[in-house]
Amino acid sequence: MASWPRRPPTPRARTTSSVVPIGAPSQRNITVPITPPVLHARSRAQILVSDVSVSLGAVRVLTGVDLTVTPTSRIAVVGENGRGKSTLLHLLSGTLTPDEGQVTRIGTLGIAEQEMATTDQRTVGEVVADAIADSLAALDELDAAGLALAAGEAGADDRFAAALEQAEALDAWDARRRVDIALEALHAETDRSRPLIQMSVGQRYRVRLACLIGGDADFLLLDEPTNHLDRAGLDYMTEQLRMRSGGVVIVSHDRALLSDIAETTIDLDPTPDDRPRVYGGGYIGYREGRRAERERWEQQYAREQEQRSKLQDDLSAAQNRLISGWRPDKGTGKHQRATRAGGLVTNVHRRRAALEAHAVTMPEPPQTLRFPDLSARPGATLVSAAGLTVAGRLPEPITLEILGRSRSLITGPNGAGKSTLLSLLAGDLSPSTGSVRRSPQARIAHLRQESELPLDRRASELYASHLDALIAAGQLPSAQAVGLSSLGLLRSYEAGRRIGELSMGQRRRLDLALALSARPHLLLLDEPTNHLSISLVDELTDALQATPAAVVLSTHDRQLLRDLHDWPRLALEPSRAHEQVGS
Ligand SMILES: Nc1ncnc2c1ncn2[C@@H]1O[C@H](COP(=O)(O)OP(=O)(O)OP(=O)(O)O)[C@@H](O)[C@H]1O
Ligand SMILES: [Mg+2]
Repeated sequence: MASWPRRPPTPRARTTSSVVPIGAPSQRNITVPITPPVLHARSRAQILVSDVSVSLGAVRVLTGVDLTVTPTSRIAVVGENGRGKSTLLHLLSGTLTPDEGQVTRIGTLGIAEQEMATTDQRTVGEVVADAIADSLAALDELDAAGLALAAGEAGADDRFAAALEQAEALDAWDARRRVDIALEALHAETDRSRPLIQMSVGQRYRVRLACLIGGDADFLLLDEPTNHLDRAGLDYMTEQLRMRSGGVVIVSHDRALLSDIAETTIDLDPTPDDRPRVYGGGYIGYREGRRAERERWEQQYAREQEQRSKLQDDLSAAQNRLISGWRPDKGTGKHQRATRAGGLVTNVHRRRAALEAHAVTMPEPPQTLRFPDLSARPGATLVSAAGLTVAGRLPEPITLEILGRSRSLITGPNGAGKSTLLSLLAGDLSPSTGSVRRSPQARIAHLRQESELPLDRRASELYASHLDALIAAGQLPSAQAVGLSSLGLLRSYEAGRRIGELSMGQRRRLDLALALSARPHLLLLDEPTNHLSISLVDELTDALQATPAAVVLSTHDRQLLRDLHDWPRLALEPSRAHEQVGS
């Protein structure tokens, strides 16, 4: 079993943006040491994964993975939540060693983990310096080599040539400027003295991403990098990843991003032989290839079932003949028939054994979201708010009304106060000025941007005790309680796990289940598509359009915004003071 630190250690002591020098096969569960000077391979860079398999706990997560990453690669990793996408990135980066197969690497890489440590003590300036350390070291070496050359030292020619080649490969002179531009473009903190530990999750993410984009690694491995970016940041990142001279491997639920970037897609969803499929032709090629693959599998399975039932018929017929010809007189036709029937039975058994040996497994039925029936309370005012502000977070007073059955989108750049407003409406935060009135009959559910689940509890236990609490508080009639399994969000073996052993997407699915469990009249959803699988995002979009409950939603997901283009919008800009939300 490939045991790992569930939250793998940051691969290199000095990083959050984790630039890992690579060049040798990784060892199990080690951090990769830094032995400067780090050699960038540029055009020679390569990550080669051959026939790799990994188990976590008792579960086989990856089987027979083959993948080659080169400096021109733009690879998307897709698959349902919990299929092993993050695990594959950890294999590529060397923080996890496979049980079987090999991963070899030439070059350097930077990784943005799906989850980010909250304990990083560095300042923004230190993070930036780490991200471009190789470029700075290359410039120092070039200076030193130049001095050696001027002093006429032996071997100085070669040393200078090598230093120049390395600095040029890294475009080292431009490194500082590249990171500065990326920090600005992603609306990341530019105050170099600010410690990460004092920043919000989103701010930390943006600093890290800017360092990776502006930094100088041969490969970027990005696990759900869009989660804290606004429209402008997303556009910038998309453009940078397209233009980059190094390879990119990206895990994302963001369909717009995948359409714009992915050239090759590795799909970790189940296949008849358990090996992942790799599709070319961009995101469309993947969607089409996947559909065809699934169809083939289903047809193959159906054919086999047909053969099986025919064999069963043959077997029954042969057995019937055996029984009907029981104890025949010697030399009669009956005796011959019975003898032949025995041979037939053996023959059918043999054919069945051959079929079993090549049995096609049943295609696992896809998990489908089953949104509970939510009530409408049409026309009723569910929430009314007047003059809401929160010091430093929502400066311009907001006045709004949310009516039953209404739909609204809260938009605005990073830091505009979208999450703050949703928390105020939910009653999870008190305003500095103004007031919020919630209808006592209205059930309100709030899906927060960040998961805050207790990691040591089992998902099913947490869900059950949440339901019990709602019923005990008189907020939900027990007859209306929906079981976790009926929502189609977590399979029973996932629901039985400790939350700490669930993938990020599986945790997010549990968050969504908890929100839906209250059978809310109003859903307040903060970036609801973050970490969800592509198919669940599609299903959730349909469900939100169809539900009779009122929905207030904040998202940067460009495809979701396109899909919900006809929803009324509340744009949080400093000038907006009074809005009527709802129909
Ligand atoms: N420490 C652990 N012990 C047992 N199983 C684990 C552990 N950590 C992860 N897993 C399981 O390994 C599987 C793969 O996890 P991974 O995080 O790679 O999935 P993922 O495809 O990235 O999911 P997501 O889309 O939710 O991010 C999941 O089913 C998860 O529950
Ligand atoms: Mg993941």
